[in-house]
Amino acid sequence: MSDKKSANQMWGGRFADAPDALMEKINASIGYDQRFYTQDIAGSKAHATMLAECGIISADDAKQILHGLDTILREIAAGDFEFKPALEDIHMNIEARLKEVIGEAAGRLHTGRSRNDQVALDFKLYIRDRLDGLIEQISALMKVLAVKAEAYADFVMPGFTHLQVAQPVTFGHHLLAYVEMLARDRSRFEDARKRMNLSPLGAAALAGTSFPIDRHMTAKALGFDGPTANSLDSVADRDFVMEALAAASITAIHLSRLAEEMVIWSTSQFSFIRMSDKFSTGSSIMPQKRNPDAAELIRGKPGRIIGALNAIMIVMKGLPMAYAKDMQEDKEMTFDALDNLELSLAAMGGMVDDITAHRDVMEVAAASGFATATDLADWCVRVLNMPFRDAHHVTGAIVAIAEQANKRIDELSLAEMQNVEPKITADIFDVLSVQNSVKSRVSFGGTAPENVVKQAKKWQKML
Ligand code: ARG
Repeated sequence: MSDKKSANQMWGGRFADAPDALMEKINASIGYDQRFYTQDIAGSKAHATMLAECGIISADDAKQILHGLDTILREIAAGDFEFKPALEDIHMNIEARLKEVIGEAAGRLHTGRSRNDQVALDFKLYIRDRLDGLIEQISALMKVLAVKAEAYADFVMPGFTHLQVAQPVTFGHHLLAYVEMLARDRSRFEDARKRMNLSPLGAAALAGTSFPIDRHMTAKALGFDGPTANSLDSVADRDFVMEALAAASITAIHLSRLAEEMVIWSTSQFSFIRMSDKFSTGSSIMPQKRNPDAAELIRGKPGRIIGALNAIMIVMKGLPMAYAKDMQEDKEMTFDALDNLELSLAAMGGMVDDITAHRDVMEVAAASGFATATDLADWCVRVLNMPFRDAHHVTGAIVAIAEQANKRIDELSLAEMQNVEPKITADIFDVLSVQNSVKSRVSFGGTAPENVVKQAKKWQKML
């Protein structure tokens, strides 16, 4: 071994030459996989403990290994560790350092495992931790939204379809729609977490091992529901990355929709809400400007998050089993995507918490665009027993008159409406106000303030 110093110290046995500088550069993942050093060390500790319990290594070697790993954990956490690209990745960097710290016993740690199951394990543990963090963050954002929804339960605003005024809704109801989306997002992360929670450790390179290891023991020690059942699949599976990023992409899309609405609502033309100074920026040239940069950035983040999902899917597509180095490309974009989703969720929480809604502006807007036309039609159906299609026609004619007179529907006189339908009575005016319109929407899931308060309270209690 000593005559091949320049070859790799971990696997240089059959190599005469050191790698080319470019080989080292393209091969090394230590620049980013150092992010899961805690998971790597946790996995190694579970593995070493199991090896000793199963009589594969001595109790004394295991003790030294565990002690050495703890030392390394402290060194890395303190920023006292030199990561070496020549040692490729976090697994070999830690193992090489272990040898420096404890000597020969370090060489026994890798018995019955491979970097292939090791990296699958580390990344799974890492993703699992990140999913737990995202699940908590989503709950926190849902809570912020539910609290705001209760506060704004009876603020009437225009509900839109095609971004054209459709029917009055309440602002609280609108915010609760996002709580529903986020609840589904959260359950997607929970599902993904549940499905991925099987340990690949001990699958070794691809075929399993001849050592009498106990995979159930390591799985349990690492908080898994059990070991994976097929060694090939164990090292070749990156579904858990794709699923996490798919769930992340959908969440990012939801956040971007809310962000876009906040951008629209905070324009001087809409002026439904005011974003706080804390989440706005000024312009270097236009002194009057308050820009919703945070919202715009949240709107922009799906670009890179969905990009990461695309990237991992394209990396995995058509890969023959089992491990191939292509799979090292699963990490950087994933880190980036999860970091940016985490940031988006946090910023969105701060932004929503800080908004002020302008009740009067919203209400005036809600009354524009003949938003209560459907209420008029429904009244004709309910009170005059008209078929809905006829009521729709009558209402259309009334709206046309209002439009020509440049009036809201409730500004028309009874006589003007009776010109279209003589049976209409003065009671019609009860349903033409936007307040009464939303109050009447009491069907389950409807926008009535009493529904909104109930739902907002339900969510706050659940969260
Ligand atoms: N750094 C590698 C990765 O991220 C670890 C596994 C390497 N395995 C191998 N047989 N070269 O995928």
